[in-house]
Amino acid sequence: MQLILNDPLDMHLHLRDGEMLHTTAPLSAHSFSGAIIMPNTIPPIQSKEALLSYKQRILEAMGSENFMPLMTLFFRRDYDYEFLSNIRDELSAIKLYPAGITTNSEGGVSGFDIEKLKTPLEAMSELGIPLCIHGETNGFVMDREAEFVPIYEKLAAAFPKLKIIMEHITTKESLQALDRYENLYATITVHHLLITLDDVVGGMLRPHLFCKPIAKRGEDRDALVQAAVNAHPKVMFGSDSAPHPKSAKECPGCAAGIFTAPIALPLLAELFEAHGKLDNLQGFISDHAKKIYGIKPPKKSVILKKEPFTIPKNYGDIVPMHAGETISWKISQVQ
Ligand code: DOR
Ligand code: ZN
Repeated sequence: MQLILNDPLDMHLHLRDGEMLHTTAPLSAHSFSGAIIMPNTIPPIQSKEALLSYKQRILEAMGSENFMPLMTLFFRRDYDYEFLSNIRDELSAIKLYPAGITTNSEGGVSGFDIEKLKTPLEAMSELGIPLCIHGETNGFVMDREAEFVPIYEKLAAAFPKLKIIMEHITTKESLQALDRYENLYATITVHHLLITLDDVVGGMLRPHLFCKPIAKRGEDRDALVQAAVNAHPKVMFGSDSAPHPKSAKECPGCAAGIFTAPIALPLLAELFEAHGKLDNLQGFISDHAKKIYGIKPPKKSVILKKEPFTIPKNYGDIVPMHAGETISWKISQVQ
């Protein structure tokens, strides 16, 4: 059995910078046509100069692959119309992190006072720049995402022309919000479609499955799977593939992030096939995102075959999800 995916897109990707970029960029560029590149580097991407030079480093690191890095800025309250219109053509979205909520997000937003967010969000609405949000409060870890839903709703109501992407959603509460506001959209990772908190901490602790937001209950995972396999048109694939060196994962104070970029497509094929919905993977992996973001990525066909594939134990210094395990689909060709 084989499956052809056209122009796969990863609408939430951490490539990092420096040495690690040389491992991550070619892997994503090989099997994806484009990706939304997250800006939580050290330092975060907050100026046109930083964005353009990061893009250049990505293009150099990815080699000769046909791949479009869709660049983002790290949200700041002092971005105004003039600043944003000057960078508009280089920018695909702006990513907002609540302060300190995850890796390198210390410079994020604290408190969601609409008045204080008005200048940048009105400018983004006018310029048609989507706002990507890591939607978690500082509450109890299992409740953080559900507690953030009213903030999503407040923003969606206050800025009806602004496209708001609820990133890496993990709960049924977030899915329900999609139906209440026209301008809310969502990304879902492959790991949140496959694991629950039991897989992370229910037996021996598995640091390579630790991420933010943490995986939730079975019923949440099942609701996400239903939305993805039934091709909910407001839901897109975003891997949130978030590499950390092995030494930062296998230690006390394990960093949050799961590395899935090179194995995401085979894992998704396996999942969609198990639900008898292989035909719907094209929408989830590309068509919905093209429509929501209004983008035309370079043409690429990825041919997947139903053949056993053993996930490498490591990619350089990075341990992927399910390292060493054998799955039933693999990428056989990219054209
Ligand atoms: O697990 C995560 N890792 N979640 C995020 O939101 C950020 C990411 C990272 O950058 O490491
Ligand atoms: Zn992320």
